Parts: sequence; structure tokens; C-alpha cells
Amino acid sequence: MSNPATTLDGIGGYLPERIVSNQELATRVDTSDEWIRERTGITQRHIAAPHETAAFMGEQAARRALDAAGIDAGSVDAIIVATSTPDQGFPATAVTIQGALGITAGFAFDISAACSGFVYAASIADAMIRAGQCRTALVIGTEVYSRILNWQDRGTCVLFGDGAGAAVLRANTADAPRGIISTHIHADGRFGDILYIDGATGQTGKPQHLVMNGREVFRHAVPKLAGAVDEALKANGLGHADIDWLVPHQANRRIIDAMGKRLNLQPEQVVVTVDRHANTSAASIPLALDDAMRDGRIKPGHLILIEALGGGLTWGSALIRM
Ligand code: ACO
Repeated sequence: MSNPATTLDGIGGYLPERIVSNQELATRVDTSDEWIRERTGITQRHIAAPHETAAFMGEQAARRALDAAGIDAGSVDAIIVATSTPDQGFPATAVTIQGALGITAGFAFDISAACSGFVYAASIADAMIRAGQCRTALVIGTEVYSRILNWQDRGTCVLFGDGAGAAVLRANTADAPRGIISTHIHADGRFGDILYIDGATGQTGKPQHLVMNGREVFRHAVPKLAGAVDEALKANGLGHADIDWLVPHQANRRIIDAMGKRLNLQPEQVVVTVDRHANTSAASIPLALDDAMRDGRIKPGHLILIEALGGGLTWGSALIRM
């Protein structure tokens, strides 16, 4: 029997109920709707209530992904959670979600790759499925950045939102030509000081706020993402014209548009949620996938390209046949 392919069989998302518009934010921070929309494309974000933690939101997204895949939680034998805002230092948020879903089989762990977390987690799950270490993985990105933002810093607090997205990835030995075609992940720690959380439980006296040099992040984003995208296409003998959908990390409309142009895609081929969700970090790609799969834009057989860049710096891409 040949090695299994990893197919994406279900997607689910969860967004907190509370929506905060740019106008509302401008009553608390020295900013304006116009500034935020022009520079980022963001018009609103969802902000978590106290009970909406990374584990809570991740569990809700996972339940919806399982429903979409048409399988029970009992089939899951791996949970990988990408988050920079876990409920606790340990147990891992993945283990908390495992318990909440009543799963006792297999393994569960968290990974830390900031906004690239979903691409990293999908890459790990794909490798583990192909190696036969698990058969049905929940890959979850879940973030409550509202709790690590410095609400006095208008340069960062306007950019982010809370939410979770989950994907069911499964081993599939059928001959159907679908599934994850390849993943390409990268890191370069020399740039750790342009986007980071200031401190963690391993350090004392730090405020644990997100700190960003926006211009520097912007400078790195398009060349590094373009490199990861070219690498993915080249590795598979594919060209821009083969891509049906670009589902990028949703950091900023200008970065998203630049990537769409670079790939010669029509604007309608690029899935955009940053306007409504803002940047939900590791949750942004599965939330965008959820958006475009539920409304029927992404169809079976379509080739989708996902890409992300985040703190670390970390970045990566994946090609998936739906
Ligand atoms: N409202 C009003 N004015 C603001 C705000 C705000 N929210 N934030 C900053 N400003 C002001 C600054 O104080 C500055 O004023 P000054 O000229 O009087 O000093 C002016 O606007 C320009 O500030 P810059 O930081 O230089 O603004 P820039 O044009 O670079 O835009 C932005 C900032 C949108 C963050 C941009 O750098 C960017 O998009 N960077 C990419 C970073 C990103 O997307 N990060 C997300 C996380 S990383 C990721 O997910 C990839």
C-alpha cells in the first residue's frame, strides 16, 4: 500500500460575539476609521469575552470542523494547536481541547510560530500522517491577542482581533488526486526583535505585550512570502495559472494585494477576511478557508495556496488540492 496522502476533509471557525468597529476603537485610542482602513483594510475585529479563551474558541472551531468532515471526535488521534496566547503554560491548549472533546486516544501538543502557526501545524500534521503516526488530525489556530495588546499603543492595538479556526486532516489512501501537495516552512531568528511578545511566564517583571516594528515587518513580508510561494510552485512543476485560490494570512490588505498581484491572480481569486476579522494570527488562514468553503467559492478539485509570515520571523506556504 502506498503512503497515505493528507486530505483536508473539514473546516470550522469561531469568532467571539463582540464586534468592535474602528469608530468604537477611535473613542478609546488616538486613531481614526480612515487611518486604519487606508493602511490596513480593517474595518472591525471580534474581541473575546472573558470565557472565550484560546481553548474555548479552539474547541468550538474543532466541533464545527468535525461536523463539516462528517466524523465523530472519537476518530481523532492527533490534535496540534498553533497559538501564541495559550490558556496556561501547561497543559497545552491542545490537551485541554482534547479533554473538552472527550478524546482519549492519540496525542496533543501546541506549537509556537506566531502568525505562521497554522502553516507550521499543517506541515507537522501532514508529515506525521504520511509517516503513519496518526490518521485523523485536528489542526487548530486559536488566538486571543486582545489580551496581549498594549491598548495604549495605537500602532499595534488597531491591527489584531480574536478567533479560532480548525481543520480536519486525514490519511487517505484512495487514488483521488487531492490533499496537501507540499508544505514549505522557514524561520530566521535574526529578526526576532521586529515582532515579539515582551516576556512570558519564564521571565519575571515583563508586561507580556505584543511589540512590533511595522515598517520592518512590512519590508520582510512580501519578499519572504514570494520566496515561499515560488518554492511551492517550483517544487511541484506548477505555475501561477494553476492556482484557483490564494488564501493568505490576513495581516494587512496591502500585503495581501501585493501577493495577489505577484501571482497574477484576479482580485476575486484572493480570499480576504482582514476587513472583518483584522489579524487573528494563527487563526486567520483556517478562518479564511472556512469563509470561502462555506459560501461555496472553494470547490472540490480546486488548487489552493496558503501562505503566512509572522513573529520569529517565521514564514511558509502550502499547496492543497481540495
Ligand atoms: N492611527 C493613527 N495614526 C497612527 C496609528 C493609528 N492607529 N498608528 C500609527 N500612526 C501614526 C504614527 O504615529 C506615525 O505618525 P508620525 O508620522 O506623526 O510619527 C504615522 O502614523 C506613520 O506610522 P508608521 O508606523 O510609519 O505607519 P505605516 O505607514 O508604516 O503603517 C502599519 C503602519 C499599518 C502597521 C504598516 O507598517 C504595516 O502594515 N506593517 C506590516 C505589519 C503588519 O501587518 N503586522 C501585523 C502583524 S505581523 C503579520 O501578521 C505579518
